[in-house]
Amino acid sequence: MSLFVNCKYAGAEVTPEAVAKIRPEVEKAFNLLRSGGGAGSEFTGWLDLPINYDRDEFEAIKTCAERIKSDSDVLVVIGIGGSYLGARAVIELIKSNNYNALKKDTPEIYFAGNTISPSAVSDIISICEGKDFSINVISKSGTTTEPAVAFRIFRELLIKKYGHAEAARRIYVTTDKSKGKLKELADREGYASFIVPDDIGGRYSVLTAVGLLPIAVAGVDIDSLMEGARGAREAYLNCDIDKNDCCKYAAVRNILYRSGKKIELCVAYEPAFTMMCEWFKQLFGESEGKDGLGIYPSSAIFSTDLHSLGQYIQQGERHIFETVVFFTEPKEDLTINADVEDIDGLNFLCGKKLSYVNKKAFEGTVIAHADGGAPSIIIEIDKADEYNTGWMIYFFELSCAISGYILGVNPFDQPGVESYKKNMFALLGMPGFESERERILHRLSE
Ligand code: PA5
Repeated sequence: MSLFVNCKYAGAEVTPEAVAKIRPEVEKAFNLLRSGGGAGSEFTGWLDLPINYDRDEFEAIKTCAERIKSDSDVLVVIGIGGSYLGARAVIELIKSNNYNALKKDTPEIYFAGNTISPSAVSDIISICEGKDFSINVISKSGTTTEPAVAFRIFRELLIKKYGHAEAARRIYVTTDKSKGKLKELADREGYASFIVPDDIGGRYSVLTAVGLLPIAVAGVDIDSLMEGARGAREAYLNCDIDKNDCCKYAAVRNILYRSGKKIELCVAYEPAFTMMCEWFKQLFGESEGKDGLGIYPSSAIFSTDLHSLGQYIQQGERHIFETVVFFTEPKEDLTINADVEDIDGLNFLCGKKLSYVNKKAFEGTVIAHADGGAPSIIIEIDKADEYNTGWMIYFFELSCAISGYILGVNPFDQPGVESYKKNMFALLGMPGFESERERILHRLSE
């Protein structure tokens, strides 16, 4: 077991009585998920993905990753939401949040198509200037506006630089197996293509080609990543709260929610976890936030944010709980040396490791926040390697699905995401949205 859920500081509301009360609901949610009888069950392919992923495609991903490594200085990954967050999160956690700036023998990786900001797109264009680059465009639907617009821009750039034939060799498409505009284009132009399985939604797709190709290009061992996910799947086949940490975590966060803790902060003491927090927020936010329900997922990196959000967490409105992911072994460590003059008065730390100081910050903060009424669920993981990351991804996905069913929502749809798109299309004059356009223009002029 590489991940351990510690509820010692989860707050006074998490009583044995509260746990006993929610236990049958957790079991029901778990069994509903595993039996395929729950809402959105057609999107639960991620549950057994670690044991039944397409081995041929997996090898093709590795082959393409090697090709990109050998012929590109830069890989531009184009996608939004579940089509980029997981890859970026894994690369930053396992490699570094400074991955692009560090010395390495793998391409720099930039993420485009997750914003419509012209400045952001222009930055990546100028980064690509004078460099060999390839594109991995990822969109399950193949119709999402942000990546489609970015792909048009970067594809044109690639064709200008290399000509049609070589550009086609440098474009890798990850999309639906048969439908969507991207699939049509990929087939017509002969782009290397990977599939987003029908039964896996965007935010649960990091361990498919969606995440695996960019992750492999960064030099991350995707075999170990899948092995970790496989280990987690094996470990979490039982619905007993006392034996299954996913059930335990889902139970405790629902107990806290019912007691008025409406905001969950995903916290880590590693800046390399920042994008993993973003992935977490999408996973839980899109899965649970519907029907007027759901814990609002937020995040913080400590101790950094203790100097910005810390005041609010300690003494503001008492509606927050934390899910703290703590890695017990850092990837690198440093020792604090003695200083003859000791002007800064830090010689009492002489010989101590930075990881030791970080751990004391974690312990002190958990107690301070618990005392202040902001309880923590602690997720202890020994180190941020491939195996543990694969395990953790599966842990959060399964916990989220169980938690969503306990809450009584469909954790696999996202109908709310459509509202802004409809309005944007109408305002941009997309054919078919004429009547909507009138209504919105009227609202804007009120
Ligand atoms: O989780 C989801 O389904 C969404 O966040 C999608 O990943 C996101 O909207 C992008 O969709 P697509 O991959 O179809 O472009």
